[in-house]
Amino acid sequence: MKGRFLGRPLPLVIAHRGFSALFPENTLPAFEAAVAEGADMIELDVTASRDGHPVVIHDDTLERTTTGMGRVGDYTLAELKRLDAGGWMGEAFGGTSIPVLPEVFDAFGGRILINVEIKSDGLCKEESTQELMQTVIDLIRRKNLLSSVVISSGDYQVLRKVRILDGEVMLAVLGNGPEANSDVTALVKAVGGLSYNPDQACLTGELVDTLHRAGILVFPWSTLPDNTAATMERMLKLGADGFFANDPALFRARALR
Ligand code: G3P
Ligand code: CA
Repeated sequence: MKGRFLGRPLPLVIAHRGFSALFPENTLPAFEAAVAEGADMIELDVTASRDGHPVVIHDDTLERTTTGMGRVGDYTLAELKRLDAGGWMGEAFGGTSIPVLPEVFDAFGGRILINVEIKSDGLCKEESTQELMQTVIDLIRRKNLLSSVVISSGDYQVLRKVRILDGEVMLAVLGNGPEANSDVTALVKAVGGLSYNPDQACLTGELVDTLHRAGILVFPWSTLPDNTAATMERMLKLGADGFFANDPALFRARALR
């Protein structure tokens, strides 16, 4: 689709967890590489450390992407900062730390659009989720990033609460499965969302048309192993407005951007 989103031409090239195909996901080098590649937006995942800091990491647990063990939320920020979050992708990235959201905003705010996905799964108490939402909102405002940061979540309670906490912050609704696609227009409208971000496996041309008629943009995503050129081409054929690509260069070439 032609057109623009927050000043960027469509289709939007979104670097999923940064340039995660070649760099350690959700780290500053992965985000820097995405900027260098000319991506329009970086996507990152945020959860809370034990002492309430917004830490940028995908999983609830540390084993897959760091030298730590156990649940992210059981550790303080100081403890998490001592872990290596890059070495698992190759020696060259050894010594890379888990970023905290203010670091990402300071380094990349205003240089590229940022999609902050709030992960609530790893937070054991509702108050922790509420505190994380407020922290993210406060940071967006304090760093003057209201017009370039979008909050997304697959937890619709989170989206509803963020909207209650702040009437202006930009929101996107993340779809996790086919069930999420039923009456999604109403859901996106209810929270004042700008886009619906479905799992690529659930996207149909009919859904794209329905969302477009309602003025809602469609940014599908995919995890491995389907974050491929073939998926990207299929998404573009279906009329998607962008894609969360592990390799933003691969998508940019296909989107003729
Ligand atoms: O925001 C889209 C996408 O990131 C959702 O999947 O598992 O990579 O967080 P996941
Ligand atoms: Ca994510």
